[in-house]
Amino acid sequence: MARRSLPLSKVYGLLEPGPVVMVTTARGGRPNIMTLSWHTMIEFEPPLVGFVMSNRNHSFGLLKATRECVINIPTVEIAEKVVGCGNSSGATTDKFETFCLTPKTAARVGAPLIEECYANLECRVADTRMVERYGLFVVEVIQAWIDPTEKNPRTIHHLGSGNFMVAGERIKLRSKMK
Ligand SMILES: Cc1cc2nc3c(=O)[nH]c(=O)nc-3n(C[C@H](O)[C@H](O)[C@H](O)COP(=O)(O)O)c2cc1C
Repeated sequence: MARRSLPLSKVYGLLEPGPVVMVTTARGGRPNIMTLSWHTMIEFEPPLVGFVMSNRNHSFGLLKATRECVINIPTVEIAEKVVGCGNSSGATTDKFETFCLTPKTAARVGAPLIEECYANLECRVADTRMVERYGLFVVEVIQAWIDPTEKNPRTIHHLGSGNFMVAGERIKLRSKMK
């Protein structure tokens, strides 16, 4: 098979895990939302998640200061809002208001859940050792919520350059993973 060289700047689009998530933070009664797709599971239980958040984002300062956030998992139905939250700054925009999203009080953290997302993971920062170098936060999920009526969530997965893949068919196979 003839192959063509892929620019290294496009590699992330092949490996990027998805789903695209919306991370909420809050400080001084002001909540914020940012879109994030560079994340990975690190441990089953307690669930540990790693994600890269650039220090150029308003959310970075909020997360660093409060050490709490919610990872909200949206579906394709609100894709436009997801991209909107990833192209605006909480420093100047109230994203809940601008994108008509509904904040819901979390059980264990100060940041709100996004009502329109089918799953919400309340998190506490567990490890900041790689934040300065890579913007890599490790967070522990301390409370998880799911919409039980959503049987086949059509999550969105970032492929780069404004392209997204929508999760589709589900198949069941034997696996050594849990
Ligand atoms: C699909 C998508 C995925 C993104 N993934 C990330 C990411 O993984 N890490 C990151 O730092 N920024 C990511 N961004 C950019 C932030 O969402 C963007 O800079 C946002 O405006 C930050 O909001 P804030 O300044 O209110 O925190 C992504 C944006 C989009 C649209």
